[in-house]
Amino acid sequence: MAYSDKVVDHYENPRNVGNFDKGDDDVGTGMVGAPACGDVMKLQIKVNPATGKIEDAKFKTYGCGSAIASSSLVTEWVKGKTLDEALTIKNTQIAEELALPPVKIHCSILAEDAIKAAVDDYRAKHAN
Ligand code: FES
Ligand code: FES
Repeated sequence: MAYSDKVVDHYENPRNVGNFDKGDDDVGTGMVGAPACGDVMKLQIKVNPATGKIEDAKFKTYGCGSAIASSSLVTEWVKGKTLDEALTIKNTQIAEELALPPVKIHCSILAEDAIKAAVDDYRAKHAN
């Protein structure tokens, strides 16, 4: 199966690979798995408490090229967004940007789910 140039670019030069300290109050961590293939994606956001905007993001993905590219792409997309704005990112936009074939759509769903999980984690830390 041929990967698109954008997938190959993100796969070979992944943006924002790494970790933040999970215990940091400004960090939200989302860890999700794809039942279809067993791949795992961890996405973290770092929120600026003064502005409420995501100022940085990191990921680690155990998975295929499309999953790595999807997570790399969304770490770029969430930066500068509010939490609500980040939640509007749809897997269809990811799949379109990376020109994912139908069999790889679940990889982009993983990335959308990872953002939601990271935002949920951040909000849970700041409830009350
Ligand atoms: Fe798991 Fe994509 S099927 S790597
Ligand atoms: Fe399973 Fe890509 S995340 S094949």
